[in-house]
Amino acid sequence: MSTHDSAFLKACRREPVPHTPVWFMRQAGRALPEYRKLREGNQMLDACATPDLVTEITLQPVRRYGVDAAIFFSDIVVPLKAIGVDLDIVPGVGPVVAQPIRSAQDLERLRALTPEDVPYITESVRNLVGELGSTPLIGFAGAPFTLASYLVEGGPSKNHAATKALMYGQPELWADLLDRLATITLAFLRVQIDAGASAVQLFDSWVGALPAKDYRAYVQPHSARVLAAVSDVPRIHFGVGTGELLHDMGQAGADVVGVDWRVPLSEAVPRIGPGKAVQGNLDPTLVFAPDDVIARKVRETLEEGKAAEGHVFNLGHGVLPETDPDKLLRVVELVHAGL
Ligand code: CP3
Repeated sequence: MSTHDSAFLKACRREPVPHTPVWFMRQAGRALPEYRKLREGNQMLDACATPDLVTEITLQPVRRYGVDAAIFFSDIVVPLKAIGVDLDIVPGVGPVVAQPIRSAQDLERLRALTPEDVPYITESVRNLVGELGSTPLIGFAGAPFTLASYLVEGGPSKNHAATKALMYGQPELWADLLDRLATITLAFLRVQIDAGASAVQLFDSWVGALPAKDYRAYVQPHSARVLAAVSDVPRIHFGVGTGELLHDMGQAGADVVGVDWRVPLSEAVPRIGPGKAVQGNLDPTLVFAPDDVIARKVRETLEEGKAAEGHVFNLGHGVLPETDPDKLLRVVELVHAGL
């Protein structure tokens, strides 16, 4: 039972597909009652280091929705925790870093990651690949800019002010920081691929905060180094608010460019240029609209996706916690039926 001929991997490779493949960012997790039950009494980062939990949580949405790919259940800060960065995931807040990284001395805390740092990742991925059969598993990691934002700010941030101050004000320190993060990120993706992941997604969730010129100068070379190191599997590259960056994110070395809900796929495709597939981009809030509106928007998204050489259906960002899983099931049915 090979994943090679799955609709998902075919679309990533821009080959003809039997139906448009669909999966959802954050399909595993908070919106599912069976997930909340499993997570009772476990801290998020402990759950990420427990292969039985990771395996079950990753499989739950595949069973429920019949999506075309599984996304590995973990978090972008897991590799940072694994090399000894003192951080926690605070419920209702997000990742919080005890001592933010602001100086050359602080950088010494960011050593390279080895497979021995994350044995639970290898074990979880191996288990999953066995359980999933012909359904591909997508591995993932946070891109250098987005990881830097958490490390420099010390937690979630709206404006990324300290991050940008460091980037513009101390470009050499910034380059060293992003270089170290690229080394960690590519090693973390490599662990997942070596254990059997069929594709990877590099999340640069917050890079939409930058203009294209600065993205190219301060970020793209580091993301490109990560993506070049994992060219043996399809690479999806995604961020939020990246309408102005779509072309450059594709040029960083992605096979598939993820698009948020702000740019229609038919407009995203010419921005991205030829030789790439696209992923997206139903507004994640659309699931709160009446069923006929959901159906119409799914149809529009499929129609607009035809402008691309390959289309992987997804939301424009992650599943919101309040989402009714039955609505997502309906979206999957509509996408598969091509209606
Ligand atoms: O499903 C859940 O939200 C519960 C588990 C959880 C995750 N991350 C899973 C996750 C929790 C509590 C977190 C903490 C966290 N980490 C937050 C705040 C909590 C929240 O609800 O969003 C944030 C913002 C992070 C940082 C983070 N993690 C980012 C920016 C990303 C990239 C994706 C994005 O949303 O922009 C992640 C990846 C992530 N966190 C995934 C999962 C299961 C993997 C990707 C996916 O499933 O699509």
